[in-house]
Amino acid sequence: MGTTRHFRVWRGDDEGGSLNDFDVEVNEGEVVLDIIHRLQATQAPDLAVRWNCKAGKCGSCSAEINGRPRLLCMTRMSTFTETETITVTPVRAFPVIRDLVTDVSYNYEKAREMPAFAPPADLAPGEYRMQQVDVERSQEFRKCIECFLCQNTCHVVRDHEENKENFSGPRMFIRAAELDMHPLDARDDRKEHAHSDQGLGYCNITKCCTEVCPEHIKITDNAIIPMKERVVDRKYDPVTWLGRKIFRR
Ligand code: SF4
Ligand code: F3S
Ligand code: FES
Repeated sequence: MGTTRHFRVWRGDDEGGSLNDFDVEVNEGEVVLDIIHRLQATQAPDLAVRWNCKAGKCGSCSAEINGRPRLLCMTRMSTFTETETITVTPVRAFPVIRDLVTDVSYNYEKAREMPAFAPPADLAPGEYRMQQVDVERSQEFRKCIECFLCQNTCHVVRDHEENKENFSGPRMFIRAAELDMHPLDARDDRKEHAHSDQGLGYCNITKCCTEVCPEHIKITDNAIIPMKERVVDRKYDPVTWLGRKIFRR
């Protein structure tokens, strides 16, 4: 037997919008995406939401729930109190298309700017076997589902649209770190590129990206700080020095 809960859902488009109030039935075991689907089925058939897997694996259903960047399909209704109003808004760092759907092109543009994996030119297929230790080193980064919650959360772009041009963001930093660790990647300037072209220097290791990652990738500790450290071997960076003192767990 379900109970009725109060929701506020942002509705609008690129010209503006507002929070709309809904009372919706909630049943045991449901997640916020179930409630959004029930809203579509009963009260708001044209409510726009992007989703695909409902299993935390496609990275499509990113939104903000009570102001926190979350996956709609992985946020259980049981995490809220019975009387709590649940507010669902689109992710803030990307432009709204409609309702809960945003335009995430920024992330794809930054991905395209990343120099591709480059194996040695004279290596024929089958000539190289990767060691298990090399596979495992970057395995953590390959868990990324491209939900872009880390990109949305990072304060460098969250309230500073003007930084987007020069800042690729945490998702791209883990990709750079992954390639940097790849024994077959012939480019040896991944870290320099991250500094000079991807804006790694803008990151002051606040760790907000790590905190919201649904795959629990240690973005800051395992990708960003090592990338900074290796660049800093040649260039003193006070942010990294402080970060090591304060944050390292
Ligand atoms: Fe999402 Fe984590 Fe990948 Fe960022 S690193 S896009 S938060 S899965
Ligand atoms: Fe942003 Fe993560 Fe750095 S939130 S400032 S990229 S540690
Ligand atoms: Fe795929 Fe939520 S619907 S991650």
